Amino acid sequence: MSAPKQAVDLLVLGASELATPTGSAPRAGAAMGEVRVVPRGAVAIERERIVAVGPQEDLVARFAPRSTLDARGGTLVPGFVDAHTHPVFATTREDEFELRTKGATYVEIAAAGGGILSTVRGVRAASRELLLERLLVHLERFLALGTTTVECKSGYGLTLDDEVKCLEVIAEARLRQPIELVPTFLGAHDFPAEFRARKPEYVELVCSTMLPRVAQGKLAEYCDVFTEGIAFSLDDSRRILERARSLGLGLRLHVDQLTPLGGAELAAELGAASADHLEHVSERGIDALRAAGVVPVLCPVVPLFLRQEREAPGRRLVDAGLPVAVSTDFNPGSCNLQSLPEVMSWAALRYRMSAAECLTAATLNAACSLGRGGEIGTLEVGKRADVLVLDVPNHRHLVYELGRSPVRTVVVRGRVVHSRA
Ligand code: NIG
Ligand code: FE
Repeated sequence: MSAPKQAVDLLVLGASELATPTGSAPRAGAAMGEVRVVPRGAVAIERERIVAVGPQEDLVARFAPRSTLDARGGTLVPGFVDAHTHPVFATTREDEFELRTKGATYVEIAAAGGGILSTVRGVRAASRELLLERLLVHLERFLALGTTTVECKSGYGLTLDDEVKCLEVIAEARLRQPIELVPTFLGAHDFPAEFRARKPEYVELVCSTMLPRVAQGKLAEYCDVFTEGIAFSLDDSRRILERARSLGLGLRLHVDQLTPLGGAELAAELGAASADHLEHVSERGIDALRAAGVVPVLCPVVPLFLRQEREAPGRRLVDAGLPVAVSTDFNPGSCNLQSLPEVMSWAALRYRMSAAECLTAATLNAACSLGRGGEIGTLEVGKRADVLVLDVPNHRHLVYELGRSPVRTVVVRGRVVHSRA
């Protein structure tokens, strides 16, 4: 007689394929392309956790599910993890988009008072209620696109009160919808207009007033800085980030995006969790990131959106043995895009990454950059049950088809939270 079946809350059945990276540590270099592919794979879920992953016949033989989800020939993958977004804003910048199509550059637009400071004016004028309402709309779209964890930066307030307002809006949004939000303080996103003539005083304000308040209120897990010629110098950035680290915050940096400043080397020196953008990273910077175990978080659509030729050396970073992650960089100025599937396609086309490498970059490696590799990012026993049913026959289609969301059903913590008709 066969053993009695184990009761579970949910069995996800009927998929043509299950594809997932494996492990809890970042997958680097060649290991990025080695995903586990299970034809007709299924997942068993009990409460919020995955209790089994394997061929459907095996799971059907072992488990008695209280409910089932029919994947109808689709592909099962882990929920996507977006490790770099700026989703708290009130106003949009389609005017700047159009100016760029006519030849203006991002830097010229910023120098004329547009850019980040334009969004700052909108955030300062906006109520918490309005910011929360807009953020919830963005999060609903992220969820429909299969993103189940989102790093959320402040950085469009640039006063103590307005930065706190944005971080508190993120904290409130956490309670109101299923996506896990990871808050990052980006008070050093730009120098606000009122400090343009006295920049050292703004750096001082960030270090001695904003950061202690953020840390004391546990308003952020990470501190980010826009390290760039038009923003914060290497010295300013080091000072702010060392202060953040001493207050217990993790570090993520915008580096080498518009110019080769050596920001990757700084991220390595400080032991940052991630170094983001990297369009102008040097070979020395690449070596430093690898040696320090920093996750490069690339934003493949940003150069397109800014009409810039220069792109991050995605293929080179993978071949150099780094655990690349990809993100949308969703924000109203440099990338009005929320779709990680679209980002993966761009990473495939522009960086020459395989579908498997893209999947690892948008799940496990992104999760590891957020300190959550043990919890999410793969479909494995013990991990949180964040599972997507994709409306494609195998994981290669994930990068192969453009312009349509492949996401049919989203499961977060074992519950179906989004389902497309
Ligand atoms: O990641 N580089 C700095 N920050 C954003 C752009 C923000 C904006 O233009 O509003 C980025 O590209
Ligand atoms: Fe950014």
